[in-house]
Amino acid sequence: MRVAVLTGGGDCPGLNPAIRAVVMRLMELGHEPIGLELGWKGLVEGLVTDLSLERVEEIIYQGGTMLGSSRTNPFRVGNEEQLEKCLKNVEALRLDAICALGGEDTLGVAAKFFKLGVNTVGIPKTMDNDLDCTDYTFGFDTAVSVAVDAADRLRDTARSHRRILVLEVMGRHAGWVALYTGIGAGADWILIPEVALDLEEMCAHLKRCRDRGKQYGLVVVSEGIDIPHADTSSVATDAFGHVILRERGVGEFIAKEIEQRVGVETRFAVLGHVQRGGAPTVFDRVLASRLGLRAADLVHERDWGKMASIQGNEIVAVPLEDAVKSLKTIPLELWQQTKSLFSQ
Ligand code: F6P
Repeated sequence: MRVAVLTGGGDCPGLNPAIRAVVMRLMELGHEPIGLELGWKGLVEGLVTDLSLERVEEIIYQGGTMLGSSRTNPFRVGNEEQLEKCLKNVEALRLDAICALGGEDTLGVAAKFFKLGVNTVGIPKTMDNDLDCTDYTFGFDTAVSVAVDAADRLRDTARSHRRILVLEVMGRHAGWVALYTGIGAGADWILIPEVALDLEEMCAHLKRCRDRGKQYGLVVVSEGIDIPHADTSSVATDAFGHVILRERGVGEFIAKEIEQRVGVETRFAVLGHVQRGGAPTVFDRVLASRLGLRAADLVHERDWGKMASIQGNEIVAVPLEDAVKSLKTIPLELWQQTKSLFSQ
């Protein structure tokens, strides 16, 4: 079979190891992998590139994606022409199947193409870790490792200057990155989108820390929390209709509130895309490779409309449709348990 491989949505470490694994396994099974550049845009415009063993062999340690990425959505209302081009290109490029590496948006498109009769399989990636039906997505472990390193550095300055430092991390509408960063860095407070912001409770705790002699503070906040009076009407959205959250200035807002309410000099740092770059951690390399191998097997077995997924330590197949139905957010019990780490 001639199998197109594409990567869509925000890039993240692990995409290259996953591409490598898919290509290696497809070739081993006697199939012909080819690359589509820039996600679904590559299918719209027929942007094909060779995927040989030589091209993928050494990319295991490289961040980003060798295929390039975009947030193209051929199913968006108004993009009917794009959709038509995609379907024509499946024929014109003689594609027997498409293996899409992405998060809810990219895999949502793969699920819709499957319904239209295109043979698709998916591989879950996103630094947000918010894709359902899989315990982890690759990119998350690396992003959190980078964020914990940043938090450790900020703590040094906070301690030296007796300040409070607020670190804003990405993660969209799920708090996984903030929660894991906060736990890993031993933060004094963590703010996640799943739990309503309670400035009084947080500031009372930060004061308590001060009173018992801790002369500095570290707060980790997710970009996706709701803040009072936030006007998002002028904030830009992407092709999937997502508000660009970074522009809401959550970290700055929280820092100002803390300074006013606790009476301690407070600074903030926005980590942004630093979290998405760099070499993948070993966890992400191995996870991406295992998922890639399984996705290639799904193609070989003609098990269309499925996504390779990790559940426990098993790599299994789940319907793409189920994976993109709703976001995987932080369960209340996990949050409640975590709160013991910053409640005294
Ligand atoms: O979905 C991954 C992600 O990094 C989010 O955490 C973040 O909100 C968004 O992408 C940023 O998107 P962009 O790279 O388009 O600015």
